Amino acid sequence: MSDIEGKAKSNAAGRSRGRTPKPPRAQRNGRAAIAPPPSRPRRRVIAVTSGKGGVGKTNIVTNLAIALSRQGIRVLVLDGDLGLANVDLLLGIAPQFDLQDVILGNRTLRDILLEGPDGIRVIPASSGVEELANLDEYRMEVLFRSLAELESETDIILIDAPSGISHHATSLVQGADQVLVVTTPEPTAFSDAYAMIKVLVKRPLRAAPALLVNQADSEDSALAVARRVKGVAKRFLNLDIEYWGYVLAD
Ligand SMILES: Nc1ncnc2c1ncn2[C@@H]1O[C@H](COP(=O)(O)OP(=O)(O)OP(=O)(O)O)[C@@H](O)[C@H]1O
Ligand SMILES: [Mg+2]
Repeated sequence: MSDIEGKAKSNAAGRSRGRTPKPPRAQRNGRAAIAPPPSRPRRRVIAVTSGKGGVGKTNIVTNLAIALSRQGIRVLVLDGDLGLANVDLLLGIAPQFDLQDVILGNRTLRDILLEGPDGIRVIPASSGVEELANLDEYRMEVLFRSLAELESETDIILIDAPSGISHHATSLVQGADQVLVVTTPEPTAFSDAYAMIKVLVKRPLRAAPALLVNQADSEDSALAVARRVKGVAKRFLNLDIEYWGYVLAD
């Protein structure tokens, strides 16, 4: 049994709660995980990803960020969909500089940080820049380390991560403390969510992935989807996926 599966088995996953998403208990009760490398300080970094595109990751990240910020939690949103960024669009902010400038060494993260609604802070990325979409693991690690600059003033970092099982997508997600996989009730979306989970758990994650069902018609239909994904993950991967809840189609 892998480390991750062992971790997942030992947690209390499997309790399905039909509520809006909230930060993982994992970090609150100290269960989550496998310690980060000593080179990088402990943070609460939650990467939001999906198997299929267009399931609502950017909407989940931005709305969750605003909701958390309204509770007094200091939130930083990293637009991690590096090649096809759009957090800025959704929040109506117009970045002058972005992650591309940081990666090229022309700006620091602090230089490019923008303030969004309700005091959330946003690290914007570029759209249509192929090199950004294909950052290697070294650059990815450099990016995560430079996030440490902002650590003392941040409680939670939410990453709007790319969808799909490409190497760059999974390596960005792998650096997070917690991965949240978003699906919709559509069969193509939840089968891709399972495929994503299957690819993710082959890597050294810090905690078992969690699941959120977006665009659900009802609490029951969301739960039915979550049960299917959880059932398959349990059966074929021996993995307990934690269900973080659902968001209604609205
Ligand atoms: N709960 C919801 N109810 C209704 N529509 C929604 C909901 N969540 C997202 N949408 C709509 O679904 C579309 C895709 O949303 P969004 O851009 O957040 O998805 P995404 O997963 O970030 O997409 P991409 O993979 O392209 O980055 C948008 O038109 C958005 O308004
Ligand atoms: Mg998006």
